[in-house]
Amino acid sequence: FLSDGDSDYLAGQTWVITAGPTREPMDPVRFISNHSSGKMGFAIARAAQQAGAKVYLICGPVQLATPAGVERIDVETAIDMQTQALQLALKTDVFVACAAVADYRVAQVAEQKIKKSSQQLQLLLEKNPDIVASVAALDNAPFTVGFAAETENVETYAQQKLQRKNLQMICANNVSTPGHGFNSDTNALSLYWRGGNLKLPLTSKQELARQLVQHIASVLKECPQ
Ligand code: CTP
Ligand code: CA
Repeated sequence: FLSDGDSDYLAGQTWVITAGPTREPMDPVRFISNHSSGKMGFAIARAAQQAGAKVYLICGPVQLATPAGVERIDVETAIDMQTQALQLALKTDVFVACAAVADYRVAQVAEQKIKKSSQQLQLLLEKNPDIVASVAALDNAPFTVGFAAETENVETYAQQKLQRKNLQMICANNVSTPGHGFNSDTNALSLYWRGGNLKLPLTSKQELARQLVQHIASVLKECPQ
């Protein structure tokens, strides 16, 4: 394992991290979105930068300061996030998908504010592209890490996502456990990769990010892309 003393162990590497929610417009004044503070993704960006990597952080709307030395790219929709991700994925060693991407977008965005009329309103939604899967499917894909926020069957769902999206690693958390996700400052993760698994117990998101970054680096070293 990489020692804590080796503070520049990612020197020469590029990392791309997605963070926060995406926002899918309905009309000029409304949108649909997900819960996501962006804290975990920002913590990973900070930890990778501190370990010596060149870090790009693609983020949806969040209320967080950019970590020092990190290049931040702000986006709104899943489609915008995918465009930026696919561009940066061509020149990165590691891609970490921490964003809570909206699975669906409104099929027809109204040009003007939708006026209130009948008792019910039907919205037709269209599936968004899977950003992390599209990165993992590239020729010369980076080492690609996904997250799985689940409320039940955490391990099964996480393992399925690892396979289905063709990822190198997945970080699962049970968001129904208090202190484990969304707006919390703490989290715990279960990591699964082809060669094994590891539980990172409940701690601050910054400490968890530090451990996760170290672990990604050591798996990457064992099985380079
Ligand atoms: N993800 C993505 N693009 C999407 C949806 C998800 O890149 N359109 C990424 C997330 O950033 C995360 C991983 O895929 O790293 C898993 O997200 P999750 O919402 O748990 O998985 P889904 O495949 O969307 O499945 P479901 O929501 O049905 O559980
Ligand atoms: Ca989803």
